[in-house]
Amino acid sequence: MKKIEMDITGVLSRTIGEHGIEEKDLYDTSMRLDDFKKKVYKSPYPFMDFGLLKSHIGEIKKIADSVKRFKIKNLVILGIGGSSLGTETIFHALLHPFHNLDTKNREGKPRYFILDNIDPHKINKVLEIVEKDRDKTLLIVISKSGETPETMSQFMLFKEVLRSTKNYTERIVVITDSKKGMLREIVKKEGYPSLSVPEGIGGRFSVLTPVGLFPSSVMGIDIEEMLRGAEDMYGYIKKTPYRKNMAVILAAILYLMDIQGKKMHVMMPYCERLSAFSDWFRQLEAESLGKAGNGPTPIKSIGVTDQHSQLQLYIDGPKDKCITFLYHGGEKRGIPDSIPYITDLEYLAGKDMKDLFYAEFLGTRRSLIEARTPSLTITVHEINEYTLGAMFFLYEMVIALMGHIYNINAFDQPGVELGKIYTKAVMGKKGLEKQKKTIEKDLTTKKHLIGF
Ligand code: PA5
Repeated sequence: MKKIEMDITGVLSRTIGEHGIEEKDLYDTSMRLDDFKKKVYKSPYPFMDFGLLKSHIGEIKKIADSVKRFKIKNLVILGIGGSSLGTETIFHALLHPFHNLDTKNREGKPRYFILDNIDPHKINKVLEIVEKDRDKTLLIVISKSGETPETMSQFMLFKEVLRSTKNYTERIVVITDSKKGMLREIVKKEGYPSLSVPEGIGGRFSVLTPVGLFPSSVMGIDIEEMLRGAEDMYGYIKKTPYRKNMAVILAAILYLMDIQGKKMHVMMPYCERLSAFSDWFRQLEAESLGKAGNGPTPIKSIGVTDQHSQLQLYIDGPKDKCITFLYHGGEKRGIPDSIPYITDLEYLAGKDMKDLFYAEFLGTRRSLIEARTPSLTITVHEINEYTLGAMFFLYEMVIALMGHIYNINAFDQPGVELGKIYTKAVMGKKGLEKQKKTIEKDLTTKKHLIGF
């Protein structure tokens, strides 16, 4: 049986008319993308280099094993954007949904806190927890550049908290560039165990490097199986003819939808475990393709929850959206006949939540077809390390192929870097006096203010 399947019926003009894609356009674009794919496989991007990705496994496992002796209770992960979203997605898909709540859910693994924001409100609360078990806390600091102010400030804070405990330097693991950046300099000086983000793999493409694999390994997740899934997807994309190739067809659809004015790309998992996957995708598509006036806007939506929040807009609002459903059948839970005197509830009594979930998905998809809103469905039959690895690699390839067709560099993020520079300037970093003055001018210019 197939593990991941894509149904594109709802996106084709033969199903939804003028808002859909003509098959001729789809296959013409796919053919162009396929030519590019062949070139890429001859000279692969670093994120496709499985020799490189697998070369880190030994070191990852060695450090993950060595921290076991500390009987870690709290795992605190510091990182932002591509440095945290992959781990968040993996934990969300593969750990108990209430992992932190009690020891039974955790099966001997530590509680985890992924700090991808610097709002002191949350940081203070995590610090209160950590302070009770400082000597049983493992800190993982992740920053490719080793310079990001959010991550560096968090590191300064948490290091101070752990510093009074024995062996604290062995309970701080740093993942950063192998040569450049302040974090690497700190590792050299303070001697923390460290792993490298491989050269040429930027944050949002780094989930299958130590960035996502080390925290997963600490949590007992089978990282080799995840890489195996990704590598099998690599092989499938390489050998499958373009008309049946999920990566090529998906890249063509998302691109054609964008240029046909469907610029809002909604990803709507009907599966709680994949809800964080849409956050990961949101960054991947936005930061990779949002350049030179290009780029669809990725939107996260959750089935069934957002049927009661967003669906009205998708059905009857502007025809500027394309919906990707991620469907997974999941577990069963019978609905008992506990309110037998209401005959209108008979249609639910004795049925299963799983079937209701499926019915809601089918109902939503049908309503979109009737509204002529394009949608496609990716069914993930099993959720495990293997399929998650495959899904990560599938979307990384989709975005790399789309970068080609937009003729942009999908791997840089000059806009994000600019924001970082201004932040550092406001905080008084030397050499950025000019940028600081620009912000000060913003603050003193006469404002158009409206208040309560
Ligand atoms: O994808 C990217 O490159 C960015 O989102 C980065 O991951 C993010 O800005 C954090 O950067 P760094 O890992 O250098 O701290």
